[in-house]
Amino acid sequence: MKNEEISTEPRWPLGLLGESPAAPVFHSSLLTPHSSLIDSHGRRHNNLRVSVTDRCNLRCTYCMPEDVTFRDRSELLSFEEITQFVRVAATLGVNKVRLTGGEPLMRKELHKLVRMIAVVPGIADIGVTTNGILLAEQAQALFDAGIRRMNVSLDTLDPGRFRELTRRDGVEKVLAGLDAAKRAGFAPIKVNAVAIRGFAEHDVVPLARYCRDNGFELRFIEYMPIGADVWEREKVFFASEILDLIGNEVGALVPANTDPSAPALDFNYRDGGGTVGVIASVSRPFCRSCNRIRLTADGKLRNCLFALDETDVKGLLRSASINEEAIGNALRESVWAKWEGHEINAKTFVKPDRTMHAIGG
Ligand code: GTP
Ligand code: 5AD
Ligand code: SF4
Repeated sequence: MKNEEISTEPRWPLGLLGESPAAPVFHSSLLTPHSSLIDSHGRRHNNLRVSVTDRCNLRCTYCMPEDVTFRDRSELLSFEEITQFVRVAATLGVNKVRLTGGEPLMRKELHKLVRMIAVVPGIADIGVTTNGILLAEQAQALFDAGIRRMNVSLDTLDPGRFRELTRRDGVEKVLAGLDAAKRAGFAPIKVNAVAIRGFAEHDVVPLARYCRDNGFELRFIEYMPIGADVWEREKVFFASEILDLIGNEVGALVPANTDPSAPALDFNYRDGGGTVGVIASVSRPFCRSCNRIRLTADGKLRNCLFALDETDVKGLLRSASINEEAIGNALRESVWAKWEGHEINAKTFVKPDRTMHAIGG
């Protein structure tokens, strides 16, 4: 896509933010798929997000339709197949894996998969992104298996609004899960809140206070056109507005050192009371420094959250004699073909057929 189609217009009245991360340097050697996972825009990919199921015990309106149909379990990759894929990816430079869903904790004995991935040579970091409903039951087993980085989705502390957004009850279970995660020793624990105009205004301050009091890193995600509902730009509660609210109502913020490849821009409370981040995918896309690739629960490679094309690896993983070279080639070619950035802000934007729960957040 053309750069000028991405709105990088700063929307930061607080003046808290610097420039977007510098564009990667383009090397003339990057003319063909590389032996490590470098794409044709010079971005190196070391961060693999593995969706372990498309099932979920919530029905968030911004993610999936109420009458969603899930895939048959036989379509999902087995733990052995996922681990095999991770092994190949690790030889190509992947060192970070995040398990996602749907709701990953709904996959039976997830902790066993964690143990299998943890011993793959080269994998240094395994995280989970969960909705927290089953976390109280599984926190200790996941910690013991080797997970340290736990991200929990929670958009509101209010039971009524939780029901409205997720079409289910359960905020108290998520809070119990966060509590259990803290006791188990996860660090960091990040809380992800999707910010939708008309909802988030009520939740930003209570969530910020709750996370600050409990030592959780709160991150607000701008609402993206990836769910089943009708997305309109007017519904995006922008990162700049969120930072203003927190700065005025909770405590003054100063920019923190942010990893340029991380989706969130982080801020610390000036008085040292914790960190808040914003994932400004709409108002300030981070595509230029993206290092992510995705494996869906049914074995498709997606080189972008918003990709319209997928590469099948399930067939390769299920063939009679597994050909690691073919899996590696599929991965390198998928990464190489990655586009420059999503087109959320362009008239030409096409929403992918898969909704978020079937991609893996
Ligand atoms: P760590 O860096 O390991 O903490 O993980 P993370 O911040 O990537 O994890 P998490 O799964 O919590 O991601 C937070 C949110 O960022 C997701 O729920 C998505 O909404 C958004 N996000 C993650 N990856 C992408 C991406 O590739 N593109 C866009 N636009 N948004 C993403
Ligand atoms: N926009 C932004 N974030 C979303 N998520 C799901 N759907 C959307 C959307 N339309 C987030 C969830 C969770 C992760 C799995 O993806 O809140 O943090
Ligand atoms: Fe489930 Fe996460 Fe989608 Fe909510 S956002 S329905 S918790 S997969």
